[in-house]
Amino acid sequence: MPHQDTRFLLLEGVHQNAVTTLKQAGFARVELLPGALEGDALADALQRADVVGIRSRTQLSDAVLQTAPHLQAIGCFCIGTNQVALERAQALGIPVFNAPYSNTRSVAELVIANILCLLRGLTWRNQGVHEGHWPKDSKANEARGKTLGIVGYGNIGAQLSVLAESLGMRVLFYDFRPRLPLGNAEAAPSLDALLAQADIVSLHVPETPATRNFISARELYLMKKGAMLINVSRGRCVAADDLAEAIQSGHLAGAALDVFPVEPKSADDALESPLRGLKNVILTPHIGGSTIEAQANIGLEVAGRFIQYLKNGATVGAVNFPEVSLPLREDTHRLLHIHENRPGVLSAVNRLFAEHNINIAAQTLSTKDSVGYLVMDVAHSDSEVALEQLQGVDGTIRSRRIY
Ligand code: NAI
Repeated sequence: MPHQDTRFLLLEGVHQNAVTTLKQAGFARVELLPGALEGDALADALQRADVVGIRSRTQLSDAVLQTAPHLQAIGCFCIGTNQVALERAQALGIPVFNAPYSNTRSVAELVIANILCLLRGLTWRNQGVHEGHWPKDSKANEARGKTLGIVGYGNIGAQLSVLAESLGMRVLFYDFRPRLPLGNAEAAPSLDALLAQADIVSLHVPETPATRNFISARELYLMKKGAMLINVSRGRCVAADDLAEAIQSGHLAGAALDVFPVEPKSADDALESPLRGLKNVILTPHIGGSTIEAQANIGLEVAGRFIQYLKNGATVGAVNFPEVSLPLREDTHRLLHIHENRPGVLSAVNRLFAEHNINIAAQTLSTKDSVGYLVMDVAHSDSEVALEQLQGVDGTIRSRRIY
């Protein structure tokens, strides 16, 4: 299909710059709707879509995907992808893209804000003044010279490290994988060593069986007296009861939490937490990545993934698909062959091409779970016959030519 005919359906008011980016790349047929769709309205809309973009509310279930015959790619303009039946999409040969890193900076900035608020007691002093008090004293600290202990030195942890050093903080980090320290940051030999030295500990690990209750009573009491804890990673990484106790006992001087083991479902629901009401404890409603800039970055990132896939066949960043990325060549057309991952498909393709005297200029095969993804470049004059041959190969899910 020529690029200008590819039909994009973008739901849930994804950022306008996704539309702009797609149009600039030559994709003219982009429809942007403000809300989510469900039921018949969703099924009808998908009939006129080759590519769909959603956020977290549109459910692309197994049944919905079965009724969307033209769908070539799905983009989740958010982090999570559990609103999409990923296995069904894979079996249908549809890569699903998301934007896991577009909000990194926003999360790191929230941590910096929390550090400064905790050190100056900003939240409770602000509340005191609003309530008619004047809580003025000098029992507050600068961030400069304090030690920040970053647990999990991935995308967010490393970004935070750079920002914290620009405030004059000393940065220690702990990660179970070897990580290159940025700036003057130092790797701690163990989590315990980091906890013993840090004035502020900030968590940036994913939730895994190993990180559930990663910080509980033992770890909290390894922290220095008067230290503070920040958790913007996942709620279950910290034992909330233990943290509440460590603050009430005066061992810790404060905490900031953006994530909780169980989070309210709507704006009118209350958070159930032993941390509510404690002094110098900042509780925010999982807003680490929720900024206009992050939404804009997500728009660019997912639109970029679509463009790469449609114009090049690249599946980098797809959560349910083998990752392939090959530079395009001027003198060839590219063939994409998505097939069932079973023995014999590649040899069948190569045999058919040899029988038709089609020379393969470049070829790469990658597999993931039930699907194989074969990308090949052939001479312009051979590409039409080659595509016809590919479509007849046993195990083919779908094939496409880029020219
Ligand atoms: P990432 O995958 O880039 O980094 C995670 C790091 O943690 C990696 O370096 C990994 O090696 C390390 N790690 C994993 N298990 C570990 C263990 N047992 N011990 C020590 N280190 C361990 O992830 P990223 O993007 O930096 O995100 C970190 C966390 O932030 C995730 O939990 C994510 O869900 C959360 N997050 C929260 C947001 C919010 O709105 N509050 C928004 C975005 C992400």
